[in-house]
Amino acid sequence: MDRILIRGGRPLRGRIPISGAKNAALPLLAASLLSEGPLVLENVPDVVDIASMAGLLGELGVGVSIANGEEVGQTITLAARDVKDITAPYDLVRKMRASVVVLGPLVARCGHARVSLPGGCAIGTRPIDFHLKALAQLGAEIELAGGYVEARAPAGGLVGADITFPAVTVTGTENAMMAAALARGETVLHNAAREPEVADLANCLVKMGAEIEGIGTDTIRIQGRDRLSGTTHRVLPDRIETGTYAVAAAITGGDVELTGTSIELIKSVADVLVASGVELTPTANGIRVARENGRLAGVDIMTEPFPGFPTDMQAQAMALMTVAGGAAMITETVFENRCMHVPELCRMGANINVHGASAIIRGVAGLSGAPVMATDLRASVSLVLAGLAAEGETEINRVYHLDRGYERLEAKLAAFGADV
Ligand code: EPZ
Repeated sequence: MDRILIRGGRPLRGRIPISGAKNAALPLLAASLLSEGPLVLENVPDVVDIASMAGLLGELGVGVSIANGEEVGQTITLAARDVKDITAPYDLVRKMRASVVVLGPLVARCGHARVSLPGGCAIGTRPIDFHLKALAQLGAEIELAGGYVEARAPAGGLVGADITFPAVTVTGTENAMMAAALARGETVLHNAAREPEVADLANCLVKMGAEIEGIGTDTIRIQGRDRLSGTTHRVLPDRIETGTYAVAAAITGGDVELTGTSIELIKSVADVLVASGVELTPTANGIRVARENGRLAGVDIMTEPFPGFPTDMQAQAMALMTVAGGAAMITETVFENRCMHVPELCRMGANINVHGASAIIRGVAGLSGAPVMATDLRASVSLVLAGLAAEGETEINRVYHLDRGYERLEAKLAAFGADV
């Protein structure tokens, strides 16, 4: 999909099935490298990033077969009987930096990995120094040459270590946890990421035979194993997609039910939405989100690692605040440059000023459609949300970003009344 045309101003109504979490499925796919037995992953979202990761694993010699799910999603069966290659090439890693999560499993399973350095991206430099430092503490020899990182385990394999991350890193924690699962002895990860996607990976590793304590906390203790076996695991619901569609309902004054998800997954987002005047009601298998009338109130937000307000919901929340009553201050603390959606929202009539890492948003009566440009996955979707609320037509260009992280976005939006 290269551009989206939205005629806004229609309240959204209906039921939306939430897909499995992209940011859980990506490391879970990489975990297939840790065992010879088949790993069956259910409720995997059918998005471009997943296809890219499945393609990379296929190149490495992992047998991959994909079957479509019922309403949304797909089941992917992976068998890494013998890993033929240990290189994650530049042309793939530059398109999807999350491919870096094959580094830990490859070094642990094959004793060697050659992964292209991901390079920067639109939202920041996003280095992987914490990943490399953790692998080095597990005994890996790390060498940087020609834009690639080469990691080699000692002859006897990786050895457990006591690792403290200088700052919270989601994929850094995931890389270290997967490497530690096959290291000799005990590894303790301090200042580990507590995102639900990290816990989902840990729960799957335990089903594969890993011994992991402290799942979901910032201190994770792993007893290494000689080998892991296959298992079947259902990917947890996508909390960012859940939050995104909750904002879609709120910003259009609609009333929708999000199914296949739960309010516990979006607590910090729910707190902001409720404070702003959105009604969130848990239902049998999801959440009802409604805002029939009355204006929303501006709410200040600061992004933080989990359980704080997720940076991946910052752009979506900002779109909502552009039409809320009063002002809201949004501070991005995780990435250094995650405000590219601001000038585009301003072209639609929003009143936003950015000072350093903080943006002050003064609510306006309404937005007006305009041609705008998407820059990264979450900025793109914030423009879609603004377009849904704006009077007139909004044309969003470069929306290939959306296909990377949102399964069948235009179909899901049309299903609950949007003119897309
Ligand atoms: C994960 O990225 C997510 N991606 C991101 O989602 C998400 O925004 C991010 O976590 C924060 O929650 C996946 O899970 C695939 P970090 P990750 O390592 O792991 C710095 C999306 O839209 N840092 O937690 O790459 C880094 O620069 C994507 O789905 C280092 O300095 O993020 C950043 O400022 C976007 N050195 C901060 O830490 C390192 O070695 C957090 O990064 C690693 C990170």
